[in-house]
Amino acid sequence: MDGLTRRRLLQAGAGGALLAALAASEGAAFTPPSRTGAGRSVVVLGGGVAGLTSAYELGKAGYHCTVLEARHKPGGRVLTIRGGDTETDLDGHTQRASFAYGTYFNAGAARIAPWMVTLDYCRELGVPIEVFVNSNADAFIHTGAGGPGVRFRTARADLFGYVSQLLTRVTRSGGLDAELAGGGRDELLEFLRDFGRLTDDGEYQGGPDRGFATYPGVDGGVPLDGPASLSDVLRSGVGAYLGFDLAFDQAMPMFQPVGGMDRIPMALARAVGADRIRLGAVVTSVADRPGGVEVRYRQDGRERMITADYCVATMPPHLMARLPHNLGDDVTTALRAFTPFPAGKIGLEYRSRWWESDLGVYGGATDTDLDLRQIWYPSSGFHAARGVLVGYYNFGTDAEAYARLAPHDRTERALSLGERIHGAKYRTEAMSSFSVSWSRVPHLEGAWAAPPYGSPAFALLREPAGRVHFAGDWLSQTVAWQHGAFVSARAAVTALHARA
Ligand code: FAD
Ligand code: PHE
Repeated sequence: MDGLTRRRLLQAGAGGALLAALAASEGAAFTPPSRTGAGRSVVVLGGGVAGLTSAYELGKAGYHCTVLEARHKPGGRVLTIRGGDTETDLDGHTQRASFAYGTYFNAGAARIAPWMVTLDYCRELGVPIEVFVNSNADAFIHTGAGGPGVRFRTARADLFGYVSQLLTRVTRSGGLDAELAGGGRDELLEFLRDFGRLTDDGEYQGGPDRGFATYPGVDGGVPLDGPASLSDVLRSGVGAYLGFDLAFDQAMPMFQPVGGMDRIPMALARAVGADRIRLGAVVTSVADRPGGVEVRYRQDGRERMITADYCVATMPPHLMARLPHNLGDDVTTALRAFTPFPAGKIGLEYRSRWWESDLGVYGGATDTDLDLRQIWYPSSGFHAARGVLVGYYNFGTDAEAYARLAPHDRTERALSLGERIHGAKYRTEAMSSFSVSWSRVPHLEGAWAAPPYGSPAFALLREPAGRVHFAGDWLSQTVAWQHGAFVSARAAVTALHARA
């Protein structure tokens, strides 16, 4: 899965994902199992969103749940870094965040689409949300040369304008007569004139919607230079970045919990009850016995065991595959069919919000062909003294390149490439940083697992193996979204309850 682009990631399961989306909107009215689980026990492996949701929903139905979570806090890939937080990666690099009070960095999950069940849980659990600016016409597309590049609004105006001009010419000269034999020629021309901001002659000559060097006020403003020629606009490569927010899971509006994405697992953990969640509990084996499931784990340097009537296993599939168990070789083979995929982010704290004051960029992201791929501007704390940017968010081979660096070198690379886009302030105003390379995070070892959709492996793990049910975003059609973790937990809980 090297070099996975956002578009390819979307294409991976687009059809199924859409169906899942529709099912999920009905799922907003999810009815938890009726209260007949009393007396039954469930051990949940993993305290990420899927594990916590399983315990939460089963708890409503009266099951006695115990969550075993290997890391020092619940949430898994919903990881919000604040000042004082410490993480040590698999290479032994320890980072301690020194972000100012009130600022934070969502190193994993960061945005939520309105149709996602995630928002229903925010409502139910009382987690306040705010708008996440996922696309911003004032942010930049940086390709090739130094400097910030071109604003999205300018790139869009030029590309849409020229493409509309071309289509208008072809239509007017009869090149589409066969396609338009059933009618619609005038409507097409009218659409193109508006969409491309064309003159009455069908020409694209730029105009105010490209943006301004100085915006109009009492006077008319100073237009931007340009547009460049059709060929130059095409060759600049901006076209590769214009479709992102058309995706059903990326279109505005999007949302984030106020104060950090981990407000969601924190609220779930509170609802489950701290006494039911064992932290630093590393599961070492699972055995399905006639009388129940036997789970061994290590906590505080001691080997421990817990038995329960049922188990919900939500560990990442590639890690679960390594666990000694008696669930069958076919289960191990199926788990191995899910391939972990790398992604990385860095949070860069700044002593001023120069992107707002100097550039007028309030949230959203700049896209670049540098291996940073994206710089995200914060969607909260506007006009505050400080702010935390996401200095890169990359996948695949780009992410692997940063994962190989020590945290200090990642920061250095992020700053030196960011300087090419935003100039000297990118370095001089920076105060501190914190990076996460998901393939190097203990107990996760990947950002998400690419599911073998349609394969027997996927179907097999949707069914329980004895008394063990599986859940996680990897078992849904919406991998890499909390939504997938929520809906797969609901499916596991429903199936478990049906048999119990
Ligand atoms: P996990 O969160 O992986 O939970 C599994 C848990 O099992 C972990 O807590 C782990 O520590 C634990 N575990 C592993 N081994 C053991 C063991 N031996 N014993 C005990 N416990 C163990 N989602 C969104 O909604 N919006 C986004 O914008 C978004 N962006 C993302 C960006 C990145 C970079 C990443 C990495 C993820 C993103 N996601 C996003 C996806 C979202 O974070 C996941 O889909 C979701 O958190 C998965 O939850 P889960 O419970 O299925 O898995
Ligand atoms: N859900 C993740 C995010 O929004 C991963 C993802 C990226 C999913 C791009 C789809 C498209 O960042």
